[in-house]
Amino acid sequence: MAARIFPSIARSVAGLALALAVGAAAGRAETVVLEPLRDNTLYEDSTGSVSNGIGTYFFVGNTNQADPFNGRRGLLRFDVALALPAGSTVTAATLVLYLSRTQDSAPRPVGLHRALSDWGEGTSNADASEGQGAPATPGDGTWLHTFFDTSFWLAPGGDFVAGASSTTVVGTANGNYSWTSAGLAADVQLWLDAPAVEFGWVAIGDESTNSTSRRFSTRHDTAGGGARHPRLTVTYTPPAGAGACCFGNGTCQILQPLDCGGQGGTFQGAGTPCNPNPCPQPTGACCLADGTCQQLTAVACTASSGVYHGDGTLCSSVVCPVLTGACCLPGTPGSCQTLSVAQCSAQNGGFLGTGTGCGIDLCPFVDPLPRPAIAQPVVGTPGGAASYEIAITEGLQQLHRDLPPTTVWRYAGSTPGPTIEAGAGLPVQVTWISDIRDAQGNLRTEHLLPVDLCLQGPDTEGNTPRTVVHLHGGHVPAASDGYPENTVLPGEQQVYNYPNQQLPASLWYHDHAMGITRLNVELGLAGFYLLRDDLENSLGLPAGDHEIALALQDRAFNEDGSLVYPAAWQEEFFGDRILVNGKVWPYLEVERGKYRFRVLDGSNSRSFRIALSNGATFHQIGTDGGLLPAPVPLTQVTLTPGERADLILDFAGYAPGTVLRLVNDAPAPFPGTPGVGVVPEVLELRVLAAVGDTDPLSAALRPHEVLQEADAVRTRTFELRKFDEPCAGSIWLINGLGWEDVTERPVLGDTEIWSFLNFSGMVHPMHLHLVMFQVLDRQPFTVVDGAVVPTGMRVPPPANEAGWKDTVATYPFEITRVITRFEDYAGLFPYHCHVLEHEDHEMMRQFETLPSGVFSDSFETADSCRWSATIGGACP
Ligand code: C2O
Ligand code: CU
Ligand code: CU
Repeated sequence: MAARIFPSIARSVAGLALALAVGAAAGRAETVVLEPLRDNTLYEDSTGSVSNGIGTYFFVGNTNQADPFNGRRGLLRFDVALALPAGSTVTAATLVLYLSRTQDSAPRPVGLHRALSDWGEGTSNADASEGQGAPATPGDGTWLHTFFDTSFWLAPGGDFVAGASSTTVVGTANGNYSWTSAGLAADVQLWLDAPAVEFGWVAIGDESTNSTSRRFSTRHDTAGGGARHPRLTVTYTPPAGAGACCFGNGTCQILQPLDCGGQGGTFQGAGTPCNPNPCPQPTGACCLADGTCQQLTAVACTASSGVYHGDGTLCSSVVCPVLTGACCLPGTPGSCQTLSVAQCSAQNGGFLGTGTGCGIDLCPFVDPLPRPAIAQPVVGTPGGAASYEIAITEGLQQLHRDLPPTTVWRYAGSTPGPTIEAGAGLPVQVTWISDIRDAQGNLRTEHLLPVDLCLQGPDTEGNTPRTVVHLHGGHVPAASDGYPENTVLPGEQQVYNYPNQQLPASLWYHDHAMGITRLNVELGLAGFYLLRDDLENSLGLPAGDHEIALALQDRAFNEDGSLVYPAAWQEEFFGDRILVNGKVWPYLEVERGKYRFRVLDGSNSRSFRIALSNGATFHQIGTDGGLLPAPVPLTQVTLTPGERADLILDFAGYAPGTVLRLVNDAPAPFPGTPGVGVVPEVLELRVLAAVGDTDPLSAALRPHEVLQEADAVRTRTFELRKFDEPCAGSIWLINGLGWEDVTERPVLGDTEIWSFLNFSGMVHPMHLHLVMFQVLDRQPFTVVDGAVVPTGMRVPPPANEAGWKDTVATYPFEITRVITRFEDYAGLFPYHCHVLEHEDHEMMRQFETLPSGVFSDSFETADSCRWSATIGGACP
């Protein structure tokens, strides 16, 4: 019979048996298809401590283990009284099970024995070791227990009728096997007539010898969309007078008129069938892949690959996300089509993210990962005391195989710029030379990108191509810190001194020009600065070819290869391509061994949550401020703009030819809505045959000094919010104040707590110049009548964040506290949000460090009193 399967859950309670009603074409015979109410495996052992309640499979037969405890028995229980009208006559019953594995070479009988005691399914899940089982949880059936660990079978291994109701010889090929017999139908009839004794069947395989076990799918197997679930098909004759009963959710069930009415259904007449389903089907809002909404039935919605929002929902009240995006199809070169995620994966394509377009046909993983060169000094050697001359220029760089070259700005001829290698305590001097020229070779007088003149900086300097270099994470005198107003024009230069008197770390340098930092960094002005010392060098960490800095940056392109960036200031900007070291979605060939990846989020606005595509564990060994005390195992790591993570990935265990990816699932904006704005692909990792660095990872890294809250002399509070602003529309401010308003004057030597309150829906990565800090804790809050009210505990940072940091993710409606000690250099230093759009307008302020002993604390409160003015005694 051609059966249309539809859910019939009228009499079932949510979470109980799903009964699928299938009607005969006409006449009195009706058919219903049931899935188990529960299923489980009994694992033979002496303690009854093992089960597999919600696992994907159940087992019958003996395993190949040598121990005497190798028996397995399956349990399956349906709920026929829920699915069949009382008083029906059962005429046939067939059980179908899907065999998904056996290591046996001979066919074996498997019998279904009617169970004589009730038993349970807990929450144990022997995922990946289904053959062995998992620790039993309360309510699980085990070899000894009907319900772990309070009630017991009369006999270990289950109570059941000795003779099988039905036996089928199960072969060795995967696929469906069925059991059908008069005995099976009699069991179903019994359960229908006496629901109190419905305990299902114990499935028993060949227990006369070893290695006979068979693995069948349970109701929890998601393969094939549930097609492998056990199914019990029952054919029956309804009692006289029964007929189709329609329920509000569109389901149909054969019932007696009184039962139908009593359950809120509408009786269709004695003898009416449920197939075809005579019941009116409810409709709801159905979101289609292109973001449009249609009012459809659930079945019609699924048929059009839509997402159904539930019966009775209306299109007018749902917002449908766009679920299509650019899909790179295989081939050389691959082509691009706009498809849904499902359509893309069905064609083995690479999905570039919802909402992405195929305007430019850029397919991932066609370019090798570039590795920035090591900067070469004019005096000294890399890694030692040295002087460098680094020019800032404009030029063309190919950022993807299929993209015309892009005009970028760069340090020493490349973006990212060359990596400056430095040694702790060994000073480095850099002469930063602006030599930005247009295509005709003339020094530029105007910026390459449109400049929004609303912003501070451009409001007085116009669209001039100003630059100034900041060493992010550097403990540097104010004069060499890259003060945002201390910019140079093409043809000018500035000499900066980096003392390197600080803990080694993955630093980076980037542009910091007032009001145009986002444009200059977007164009390419960023590079790594790696500071090391003897202790770090003695740890045997992966080095040389096995140590790679990875700058992650998102960009968007026009078809001519030029960068897309809006002319008017926007509060955030997200590119739809991920560049790693200046290439869109590159690949890296790795040897079978360890690699040290120093990962930087160098994007303007985009956060990343990075994982290996196979979910494998890796280790974080360092933060913004250098090595952690010990490696921290992780399966994903979050980086907001400006943050760095020093990671060890180990490819030793992979077969040559294995292809892995670094993938990202961070929404944009962040933390945002799962799936929205995500660009999932980052970097492909191709495992070579060659064996690489297989030395063990040192268990101890750098001992860590923990700053004590009790040593803090004051706490400062910073409120992060957006305000209206007439020229650009909106503006992000810290405590409602701007760049010119200096109100924080820490005294050198003092320890302080800085407490950031994020009154917005997105993360603000807060960065302080001059110092490294430690994250104390984060605490959620809400606002009641204008007052901040904490709604939870102060939560200390996770282990991989519990080191020195210079940038901290402050999440929406959380109080994020950091502690730091101001040392060495007096002067003005910026602190700001590292979302560069926010930094430019104008979530950037400055603090002023004061020499200790010279100024009293009362000075601290004189907000309008500038330190420079005080030197001349002019402070009011
Ligand atoms: Cu990386 Cu003030 O910045
Ligand atoms: Cu900085
Ligand atoms: Cu911000």
